[in-house]
Amino acid sequence: MFNAKAYSAASATSPLASTTITRRDPTENDIQIEILYCGICHSDLHTVRDEWNSVMPTVYPCIPGHEIVGRVTKVGSAVSKFKLGDLAAVGCMVDSDGTCPECKAGLEQFCANFTLTYNSPDKHLGGVTYGGYSDSIVVDQRFVLRVPSNLKLAGVAPLLCAGITTYSPLRHWGVTRGKNVGVVGLGGLGHMGVKLAHALGAHVVVFTTSPKKKEDALRLGADEVVISRNADEMQKHAGSFDFILDAVSADHDISAYLNLLRRDGNITLVGAPEKPLPVSAFGLIMGRRSLSGSMIGGIPETQEMLDFCGQHNITADVEVIPIQKVNEAYERLLKSDVKYRFSIDMASLKSE
Ligand SMILES: NC(=O)c1ccc[n+]([C@@H]2O[C@H](COP(=O)([O-])OP(=O)(O)OC[C@H]3O[C@@H](n4cnc5c(N)ncnc54)[C@H](OP(=O)(O)O)[C@@H]3O)[C@@H](O)[C@H]2O)c1
Ligand SMILES: [Zn+2]
Ligand SMILES: [Zn+2]
Repeated sequence: MFNAKAYSAASATSPLASTTITRRDPTENDIQIEILYCGICHSDLHTVRDEWNSVMPTVYPCIPGHEIVGRVTKVGSAVSKFKLGDLAAVGCMVDSDGTCPECKAGLEQFCANFTLTYNSPDKHLGGVTYGGYSDSIVVDQRFVLRVPSNLKLAGVAPLLCAGITTYSPLRHWGVTRGKNVGVVGLGGLGHMGVKLAHALGAHVVVFTTSPKKKEDALRLGADEVVISRNADEMQKHAGSFDFILDAVSADHDISAYLNLLRRDGNITLVGAPEKPLPVSAFGLIMGRRSLSGSMIGGIPETQEMLDFCGQHNITADVEVIPIQKVNEAYERLLKSDVKYRFSIDMASLKSE
């Protein structure tokens, strides 16, 4: 085992603070990575504050972070995919059983025995896994992704969660040229949804509660922007969408969006608010509309997304911050004040 620097939360009400943790020495299939950047996902905040207690209670100390990009510093003897000095990325999962039908289908995110990057039972060391707010991580090579060489690394990190979480449902629901696609909530996930849906050729309409994000939404690739608190503006789009991606982190009215779908249209929730959302039965019945959910994406599709981003020159729009500003960043996330993902420059951890 070896020591790593990290930032951790001691309880649901404590700020994140500097700490030292132990990581395992790489086994034969492991890759050790020096973390260069780690994105801040709203799921980090939900977890740190134990907001998902009823589904996955948080074990403290909690070290979040699942949008990881860095350089390979050590490889196990059986590792063929990576060599020292390679760029490497890790997303929301670090392991799965590899044998169940979901794993065989490359849908490891639905494996009953997967290991999430943080707050999951750690098979090697006991306790729970510790995520990317750290200077290093050790991960099985099956869960390490290749990074396109043409992209800026600070903006690549968020692709590992915000990118795949939006790419996967867009692909699953057949978003292509000619489709009318709505994206609700212009945060980390939402802004990636806009970039990716635009790159897939769709007509993209952003729904935001923040009028001051309008210009940005258009720059990011939206064709139209609707201020969702304006009922008249909403009504103009009734019955018009093939697909809507809902990336909102808090309580909101999803039935208002059901009414905007055309016949057989689908709205997929990727946002994971703390409390259940009410659904209007009539919103679904009328027009045979459907409501679904989607969780991150499997490893093959995550690599496909990274390669797609490489080809289309897509990265997240990031505000790069030192890790010492992480608590401030969380407060800004809660105010929907991020353009459009915080990416932690892990060099800042060296001074701790
Ligand atoms: N399904 C998955 O696999 C998966 C993966 C990652 C994250 N998530 C979840 O997805 C959600 C979004 O994550 P994120 O990192 O993109 O968060 P984020 O950057 O904080 O963005 C959330 C956006 O939601 C909108 N919003 C916030 N509060 C709202 C309210 N009360 N009513 C209406 N809109 C509101 C805001 O957009 P506007 O300012 O434009 O209104 C905000 O920017 C979180 O719940 C996160 O846990 C799920
Ligand atoms: Zn995430
Ligand atoms: Zn499995």
